[in-house]
Amino acid sequence: MPESMAGLKRSHYCADIDETLLDSEVTIMGWVQHRRDHGGLVFIDLRDRSGLVQTVFNPQEDPATHEKSHDVRAQYVLALRGRVRRRPDDMVNPKLPTGRVEVFIRELRVLNEAQTPPFVVDDHSDVSENVRLRYRYLDLRRPQVLKNFVLRHRVAQLTRNYFSDNGFLEIETPVLTKSTPEGARDYLVPARLSQGSFFALPQSPQLFKQLLMMGGIDRYCQIVKCFRDEDLRADRQPEFTQVDLEMSFVNQDDIISMLEGYISLVFKEILGLSVELPIARLTFDESMTRYGNDRPDLRYGLEIVDLAAALASSKAQVFAEALKSGGVVRAIRAPGAASKLSRKQLDDLVAMAISLGAKGLAWLRLTAEGFQGPLAKFLSDDEKERVTKTMEAQVGDVLFFSADTADMVAHVLGQIRSQLASELELLPSDNTIDNFRLVWVTDFPMFEYDTELRRWDAKHHPFTAPKDEDLEFLENDPGRVRALAYDLVLNGNEIGGGSIRIHTPGTQNLVFKALGLTEEQIREKFGFFVDALAYGTPPHGGCAFGLDRLVMLLAGASSLRDVIAFPKTQKASCPLTEAPGSVSDRQLLELGLRLEGPKLPEGD
Ligand code: AMO
Ligand code: AMP
Repeated sequence: MPESMAGLKRSHYCADIDETLLDSEVTIMGWVQHRRDHGGLVFIDLRDRSGLVQTVFNPQEDPATHEKSHDVRAQYVLALRGRVRRRPDDMVNPKLPTGRVEVFIRELRVLNEAQTPPFVVDDHSDVSENVRLRYRYLDLRRPQVLKNFVLRHRVAQLTRNYFSDNGFLEIETPVLTKSTPEGARDYLVPARLSQGSFFALPQSPQLFKQLLMMGGIDRYCQIVKCFRDEDLRADRQPEFTQVDLEMSFVNQDDIISMLEGYISLVFKEILGLSVELPIARLTFDESMTRYGNDRPDLRYGLEIVDLAAALASSKAQVFAEALKSGGVVRAIRAPGAASKLSRKQLDDLVAMAISLGAKGLAWLRLTAEGFQGPLAKFLSDDEKERVTKTMEAQVGDVLFFSADTADMVAHVLGQIRSQLASELELLPSDNTIDNFRLVWVTDFPMFEYDTELRRWDAKHHPFTAPKDEDLEFLENDPGRVRALAYDLVLNGNEIGGGSIRIHTPGTQNLVFKALGLTEEQIREKFGFFVDALAYGTPPHGGCAFGLDRLVMLLAGASSLRDVIAFPKTQKASCPLTEAPGSVSDRQLLELGLRLEGPKLPEGD
């Protein structure tokens, strides 16, 4: 039978018990990590959020309490009162902060019993993630799991303080709202009082934060839940948290420098690392050309090099054809890879390129005797020399060539680049600032073409301002318009994104039109917003960081699920609560989602 805590008050957390407390009486409360019975003495390791301490039950000193300790099992909840003593020299555990002491117990109360847990609750047990998430409350008792949430808490506190210190107001925005397009599907909530209508959960507070600027708030920040019904990956959750902010009367550089202050503070306080400011910047075009994507991982080189000049008059058909039809020929140099990549690895890389849509992936090894590889015989000596020079190739290197449209080459070489980095083990793992490579990517295209739907989509969101010098192309050549948009990238992950916003109704309408929206659609979706723009909107802009992603990278975790207390699985479901679940016929009927059915009894 569980006992009461009455009359006992916790005096210390377990991990606080050290030699400064020798001979003092302490009262601790927590879970049984481990019980060992040495015939005479019984040892119980008690754990709370702070850590572990070893307690001892001695049959000579206190036979009754010793006897009681026999009934205790793993994960029982105990209150223990006793005296702190030094451990014998040969029993000291230098790995444990409390490893020089132990507590001799005079009073044991079992505050609660526990069933045998489905896995051993410690850092060493290897448990499938599904089981861990099903029993997340047990999983959270493991120090390694807990530590990420302590880190997350610290980042959240720092965030609030930094933005508050810089004059931002924390203001909450609605969760039951209208659709805010960020490129994903909406989660919908049926509205009982307006049957047939739905709220959308916000993909972000984008429109509300702009309305706050129109309301004169000047600087807004919120740590806020966002909801996106999209296909999930390790770095995507259907429900995630943004550090969302917006500022008035600022330009892109003002916002970037405010955010650099924030990110450097986070690195300093959380990891003790100094970020060199200003953070490097790349335009979208540079990033695509040199790294093959818009979130480049700069921890390693393997840059993509253009070979149009070197191979301009090549007889090699794959190159000549690509160049003739307006495409490009580009390559990556993998230094010293000749001795590191087996023939099988090279073949696998070619297969990978083909699975990505390429026609092939030519490779050349540079040996002391010259180039070796499938294309070597098609290249003239001149060409080989120009390629060697352009790529700064050395004996022992392997070069990987892709010839196709610029988009396809970027797509293929971008992926080959990151595959090579992992195969060549170029990713260092120690926590130095060199292993956290931050970069801003700027000058994104305003629109991207959806070839299936044959229409232009907003690359960020439709409230992003075009660059002034590109405004003239908005109506007739949308593909040419660049946006005042910027993303912050950390080690190949997009951790934040933002833009300067459109603040005049005229430009906003032009952008909606470029997206193919009719007057009626604009009114229906964004009428309230277009109206608001007309009542004195200040120039403004902002950004949102993915808090989960930032914390994941700071914690060295590989999945967002490691930094979200109750995350969803790949199927967007929760193994613990088994949400989403079914609902009763009555609920469906009340919501107008079930058109007919048996008449339900009144007042049920
Ligand atoms: P964006 O859509 O780029 O911008 O989102 C901002 C940041 O949120 C994170 N993020 C996610 N994290 C986890 N799971 C997801 N499904 C997910 N989707 C996005 C990313 C991303 O950089 N309203 C704009 C911001 C602005 O313009 O101010 C917005 O939401 O780290
Ligand atoms: P093929 O002429 O198709 O036998 O290809 C000869 C070599 O060139 C093979 O190693 C292919 O993988 C490679 N290759 C073919 N097409 C391309 C391309 N578009 N870009 C780069 N390499 C290619």
